[in-house]
Amino acid sequence: MVNPRLALLHPYPFERWRELTAGIRPPAHLAPISLGIGEPRHATPPFIEEALVKAMPALSSYPPTIGEPALREAIAGWVQRRYGVTLDPARQVLPVNGTREALFAFAQVVVDETKAGATVAFPNPFYQIYEGAALLAGARPHYVASDPARNFAADWDGVPADVWARTQLLYVCSPGNPTGAVMPLAEWKRLFELSDRHGFVIASDECYSEIYFRDEPPFGPPIGSLQAAKALGRDDFRNLVAFTSLSKRSSVPGLRSGFVAGDTHWIKPFLLYRTYHGSAMSGLVQRASIAAWNDEAHVVANRELYRAKFAAVTPMLAEVLDVRLPDAAFYLWAGVPAACGGDEIEYARGLLAQYNVAVLPGRLLAREVGGRPNPGTGRIRMALVATPAECREAAERIVAYTKDLTRKLTA
Ligand SMILES: Cc1ncc(COP(=O)(O)O)c(C=O)c1O
Repeated sequence: MVNPRLALLHPYPFERWRELTAGIRPPAHLAPISLGIGEPRHATPPFIEEALVKAMPALSSYPPTIGEPALREAIAGWVQRRYGVTLDPARQVLPVNGTREALFAFAQVVVDETKAGATVAFPNPFYQIYEGAALLAGARPHYVASDPARNFAADWDGVPADVWARTQLLYVCSPGNPTGAVMPLAEWKRLFELSDRHGFVIASDECYSEIYFRDEPPFGPPIGSLQAAKALGRDDFRNLVAFTSLSKRSSVPGLRSGFVAGDTHWIKPFLLYRTYHGSAMSGLVQRASIAAWNDEAHVVANRELYRAKFAAVTPMLAEVLDVRLPDAAFYLWAGVPAACGGDEIEYARGLLAQYNVAVLPGRLLAREVGGRPNPGTGRIRMALVATPAECREAAERIVAYTKDLTRKLTA
């Protein structure tokens, strides 16, 4: 006996990539460089490690699911400084063990599968947890096409009214994975109108909010959903919950720490669900998280590291790929030249086989729906998470490989 919904899940992109590259033996004289997995690899700031070690006495007690007041206050303080939004730490903030588990669990709280055709919508391409969360909650996923001609913005107005009518939950991701696109205020306004008209909840995934490349307008720090709600006079954050993480901000993916914040109408049942689920954050992690949320200097330094890598590598790659500096996040979502055959899976396999560089083929991050081509086709995702020297070396190899392949295929 097993939950039949488990059979609906798609293999994770990295599993598919492993299968697709199973027989490949990359050249041994070239050190392997992976731009495939979006895992932060900068060193964790020592003060966060120290806070964790100092918190050892917390091991001797069960932590409360709602989190310590000091952590919720530290989070509310950060939200205030970053977005100018005042939250009630007692009612509008919950710590979570990384946003991945929270994004998943939230669908289990929101979806009412007794309503016919219960739907969970999200942009295509997307972070695969949204789809798995929808399927395991008994909902239908609806994949909203994104438009490369409009900085990969999702085509919200192309969603049929009957789909919106069945939609109970909408995931959005800004800055986006894999595109790096940031949703402007006008797009938030449109989404809030749709949410008001159709009654769905918005889960706003903001885990890349602190990695951006330009300080000047119209770029600057990415706008957060709570900030957008406040700017549009929605002080109660109705039907909005934001998901934010320390993993990328503070280079602590192993800490498993983030928070959700927003509409108390949804935070309350979410806390109830989490109490049964048993997902309380360890007291050690809570103390280290307080230290991390209260410090901004390490975040600025971390962002500088990414900025330097993108500044060095993007122009190199732009010589051979369709790529430019994204709004934010740590990915390049690049088009493979048609002269390379247009098949990014073959392109990525060849790159690994000849140059020992791993990138993720775009098709693994998106779905083909409604007869439209998979929007990842012809694109690759490169996570600039390795050291600056490795990122440069990878870019040199990609340039050499692409030039060589173009020559061969056009000869
Ligand atoms: C778009 C997106 N959301 C959420 C997460 C989860 O991050 P964490 O669970 O570390 O907070 C990731 C991680 O890669 C991601 O890419």
